[in-house]
Amino acid sequence: MSLTGLFLVSFLLVHLSGNFLLYRSDNGDAFNLYSHFMSTNGVIRVLEIGLLAGFLIHIFTAYILTQRNKAARPIQYAVSASNAKVTWFSRNMGLSGSIVLVFLIIHLINFYFPFHYGYDTYVDIEGTSYKDMYTLVATVFKNEWWYSILYILAMVLLSFHLQHGFASAFQTLGLEHKKYTPIIKGLGTLISVLVPLGFATMPVYFLFFN
Ligand code: HEM
Repeated sequence: MSLTGLFLVSFLLVHLSGNFLLYRSDNGDAFNLYSHFMSTNGVIRVLEIGLLAGFLIHIFTAYILTQRNKAARPIQYAVSASNAKVTWFSRNMGLSGSIVLVFLIIHLINFYFPFHYGYDTYVDIEGTSYKDMYTLVATVFKNEWWYSILYILAMVLLSFHLQHGFASAFQTLGLEHKKYTPIIKGLGTLISVLVPLGFATMPVYFLFFN
């Protein structure tokens, strides 16, 4: 779980930096060229299969782990731990993960499937025709505003999921070093906040400023 989780985080970092091209004031040209590259490049297509495998293994191992925990303690604790170290979110990683998964399915229906199958609005960039992904993103976030609300809420949950995911990944991988562990943990917290925040700025931008 830890390794696939960290792999998925590396995808999020790449996805976020590519999506920042939405902010270039060039009518979406850079973002459309980037989307075209991501959907046609052979290496990226192979990585996409790895990404799907990463998601599936992460979800499957989460399921196995939950079943094992249940089997180890068939009778639930009468009183659940409520100290600061064991927060509600850390005890409900399955719930936040499932909501992020529902978000992901909606997200793929919003963008991935139209892009690869069906969506046929094109834009001309220096004499070549490209799918106008920028307009699709702008239209979904602006006209179908309820998706923007959903994306923003999902990013709050993603942030908590990442925060507790990082914490338990470091524990599982046995990272214990007097000097470096606090730095790595700090970096984990920073990523957990900044990555979802970066994604959340996108619906906000199209909804209110574009
Ligand atoms: C809120 C801002 C986001 C925007 C504007 C956005 C935009 C897009 C677009 C346009 C695509 C389809 C184009 C393509 O296939 O290259 C896509 C695909 C995808 N997105 Fe997002 N995305 C956002 C957030 C997220 C988040 C938070 C996740 C994960 C939790 C995510 C996961 C994916 C995945 C797995 C794919 C399909 C794989 C891929 O094509 O790279 N996206 N996204």
